[in-house]
Amino acid sequence: MEPIIKVTSITKNYGQQEVLKGIDLQIEAGDFTCIMGRSGCGKTTLLKILGLMHPPTEGDVFFKERLTSELFPDEISDIRRRKIGFVFQDFNLMESITVRENILLPAILDKQDTTEAEERMVQFFQVLRIEHLLDKLPHELSVGEKQRAAICRALMNEPEIILADEPTGNLDSNAGAEVINIFQRINRELGITIVMITHDSKVAQTAKDVIFLKDGQIYDRLINIVGSEAKIAEKMLEV
Ligand SMILES: Nc1ncnc2c1ncn2[C@@H]1O[C@H](COP(=O)(O)OP(=O)(O)OP(=O)(O)O)[C@@H](O)[C@H]1O
Ligand SMILES: [Mg+2]
Repeated sequence: MEPIIKVTSITKNYGQQEVLKGIDLQIEAGDFTCIMGRSGCGKTTLLKILGLMHPPTEGDVFFKERLTSELFPDEISDIRRRKIGFVFQDFNLMESITVRENILLPAILDKQDTTEAEERMVQFFQVLRIEHLLDKLPHELSVGEKQRAAICRALMNEPEIILADEPTGNLDSNAGAEVINIFQRINRELGITIVMITHDSKVAQTAKDVIFLKDGQIYDRLINIVGSEAKIAEKMLEV
């Protein structure tokens, strides 16, 4: 199967610091992959490279077989805007506008027809349960509700892949479980590929596979780990 994102021998340095030291990774359509590893090991750095938010220092990044270093900057931003959805730990909602406006903002900035965008938004309501929140401001929402709104925003461009950086990091266990359930439905029912960073082996065990980063490299990749929380926790002790 054609990978959605493939990176080969990528490194990333910040000044003298070598954060990523040679990573090969392929994400295929339908994957639900978690990335784990100690704080500071380079998970976010890797996710940003996968999301074409910044280039690696060395090595190649392919988006659907296209070598991204050969693309023009606006081709890269088109891919980022139209094919990739981002979800962050701290939601990244604009505080001064309503939930509806937050969700529609990318479409508005992209000069799309807002009526069509609203119609697209409605199809996610059943999974996300946010219709009663649309006229509220972000500060009027619980953290779980904020994350559901942020996930809706990420779905709006009907991305092929969602990259999520600790999406449950600020949530209590109930709200976290609901968000994970949503990601599973997005993966299974909408067929969207998911790459998610987490520190939590309970969260990671809901994925199809887990990549462990250590010292800037892939230490291990466990596949078919659904329900294997203990195995994941044990591996985390090694990294
Ligand atoms: N923009 C930057 N400029 C300089 N150094 C950076 C930058 N971003 C990250 N780093 C450094 O790179 C290393 C890896 O950071 P990264 O954010 O990828 O780690 P992480 O695995 O996501 O950690 P955490 O689990 O705490 O989120 C850290 O030492 C960090 O200080
Ligand atoms: Mg991080």
